[in-house]
Amino acid sequence: MNILGIETSCDETSAAVLVNGAVRSNVVSSQRCHGDFGGVVPELASREHERLIVSIVDAALKEANITKNGLDVIAATAGPGLIGAVMVGLCFGEGLAWALGKPFVPVNHVEAHIFSPFIGDGAAARAPDGDFISLTVSGGHTLLSVVHQDLSYEVVGRSIDDAAGEAFDKTGKMLGLGYPAGPVIDRLARQGDPAFHRFPRALTSSSRTSRNYHGNFDFSFSGLKTSVRTWIDRHDREYIERHIPDIAASIQDAIVSVLVEKAIAAARQYRAGAVSVAGGVSANTGLRAAMGEACRKEGLELFIPDAAYSTDNAAMIATMADLMISRGKAGENAYDAAPFARFIPVGRAAH
Ligand code: KG4
Ligand code: ZN
Repeated sequence: MNILGIETSCDETSAAVLVNGAVRSNVVSSQRCHGDFGGVVPELASREHERLIVSIVDAALKEANITKNGLDVIAATAGPGLIGAVMVGLCFGEGLAWALGKPFVPVNHVEAHIFSPFIGDGAAARAPDGDFISLTVSGGHTLLSVVHQDLSYEVVGRSIDDAAGEAFDKTGKMLGLGYPAGPVIDRLARQGDPAFHRFPRALTSSSRTSRNYHGNFDFSFSGLKTSVRTWIDRHDREYIERHIPDIAASIQDAIVSVLVEKAIAAARQYRAGAVSVAGGVSANTGLRAAMGEACRKEGLELFIPDAAYSTDNAAMIATMADLMISRGKAGENAYDAAPFARFIPVGRAAH
C-alpha cells in the first residue's frame, strides 16, 4: 500500500511516501522566516506552506519513484496546530485525494507523534506488547499518556502552562540564543555544569510544593521561566556571558529531570513495560541519556524516534494513517474533514 502523508501544522512543510509501512521518502522544509520574531508567526507560516506545498509533495513522490496515480491513500494533519497552516496541507490533501478518487485519512498530529517511535518497516510490528507510557514533548505539547494496543490512550498528565519545548525556547530567548533555542541549549549544555544553579522542578517529589505531587502527572514550566528571568536580572552581563553553557546545562537539567521522574512514576503506577518519548524535545541528547539510564534501572524498554522523526515530519502522518487503516480506525473517505487548532484528549487514538 502506497500512502502519501502531508504535514503543515506549524513551521515545517513536509510530505512523505510510505510503501507497505516502509518510509520511501520524507521531505521536510523548515521555515527560516520566523527567526527574527522569536517565535512562529502564523500568517507567515501559512504563506510559506502555500508557496512550498506543491514542490514538496512533488519532491516526495519523485524521491519515492511513485506517480500520483500510484498512490492508494492520501493522509494529512487535520490538527492540532496553527489553523491557517493546518488548512494548507489538509485542503491540499483532500483536494488531491478527491481529484484522484483515492481515500483520504485525516490524522491527529499529536497522535502521530505518540506513534512516531515505531516508524519503519511496518510500524505495528515494532510497537511493544502491552501498554506503554508515552511522553510527547514538543513546542506545543507536553503530554504523558498510557497507550494501549488498540491505539486507544488516556492522557494522564499534561502541562498546565508552557510546553517543555516552549520552556527551552523562552528561557533560551532570554539568554539571547535565538529561535528555536532548544537545540542551541542542548549543544551548549554539553560544555556546561548542570549543578551550576538549581532551577525549580515544579510538581515533583523534590519541589517545594511536593505535597501536590502524589499521583499528579501534570507539568508546570512557568516557574522555571520566572526563575531564569530573576537569575539574569541579578547578574551582570559579563558574568552571564561567561556562564552561558552552565546556565544552559542547569536549565536543561531542570526540564529533563522533571520529564524523566514523571515518565518513570507513570510507568510504575500504570504497570507499563515500556516508555516512549516523542516530539521535538525527544531530540534532546540530555533527555535521551537520562531517560535511557532511568529505564535501564527500572527494567523498562525505551522507544525514541530517530532524530529525523522527532521534530515535525510527514513520515509520522503517513505511518499514523497506516496504523489507523490496519486497525480499522480510518473511517470512510473524509474529503470534508475539518481542521482543528486545539488538542482535546478524548481518550481514543482514532477519530
Ligand atoms: O515537534 P516539534 O518539531 O514541533 C511542534 O509540534 O511543536 O517541536 C519543536 C520543539 C521546539 O520547541 C524546539 O526548541 C524543540 O522542539 N527542540 C529541542 C531540541 N530539538 C528541538 N529541544 C531541546 N533539545 C533539542 N535538541
Ligand atoms: Zn509536532
